[in-house]
Amino acid sequence: MEIYIDTANIEHIEYAAKLGFVSGVTTNPSLLAKEDPKVDVKKRILEIHSLIGGHLSVEVNSTNCEGMLREAEEIVSWFPEATIKIPMIPEGLMAVYELAKKGIPSNVTLIFSTTQAIAANNAGASYVSLFMGRLDDISSNSSEVLQDICDIWDLHAYSSEIIAASIRHPLHIIEAAKAGAHIATVPYKVIMQSLKHPLTDAGIEAFSKDYEKMLAEKKKIINV
Ligand code: E4P
Repeated sequence: MEIYIDTANIEHIEYAAKLGFVSGVTTNPSLLAKEDPKVDVKKRILEIHSLIGGHLSVEVNSTNCEGMLREAEEIVSWFPEATIKIPMIPEGLMAVYELAKKGIPSNVTLIFSTTQAIAANNAGASYVSLFMGRLDDISSNSSEVLQDICDIWDLHAYSSEIIAASIRHPLHIIEAAKAGAHIATVPYKVIMQSLKHPLTDAGIEAFSKDYEKMLAEKKKIINV
């Protein structure tokens, strides 16, 4: 399962890119506004693109097909390998269908049910993003929905890739991997949390102390 970072924060993307296992970025209007409400979106997106180089999903803001297609054309003119993030609404599916005909990849966002995921796949989406955290927030079992989607994808050999989105904690990453999602898009804080273990820290502390002891002993021998 691939890991993407779900942010528009340059420092976090820069750091994540160096870790070697983060292969893409997903953004949305809220993530961009959180960094700077006055942000120059084109400039920020191109900056992100130059940092990570892999997958980059950029979301449209229109809610009608024509507007979404216009925005998609503009984003693709910034960098041709862009993936266009389209909301899971009927007009969005129409836009996905048109984009697929032109060979422009789309990521259908705000998916909360299995039937929405099937519709997005059949309209020609390249990616379907299931929002796990937001489903859990309303007491729906997101891992059950994700498991259903993954099982159906296997059964029918559907071509779109399943993204586990709205990840809130490392357990969501494990659930996504076990279900068979192709990608989990993870906030920076959760990426860092997922790398930490108290026994790793305790082990490093013990190794450093023992190394210092050895150095001190060597110094004593040299000084004798
Ligand atoms: C990713 O594509 C989504 O925009 C994102 O994961 C939403 O996450 P949130 O529910 O934490 O806002």
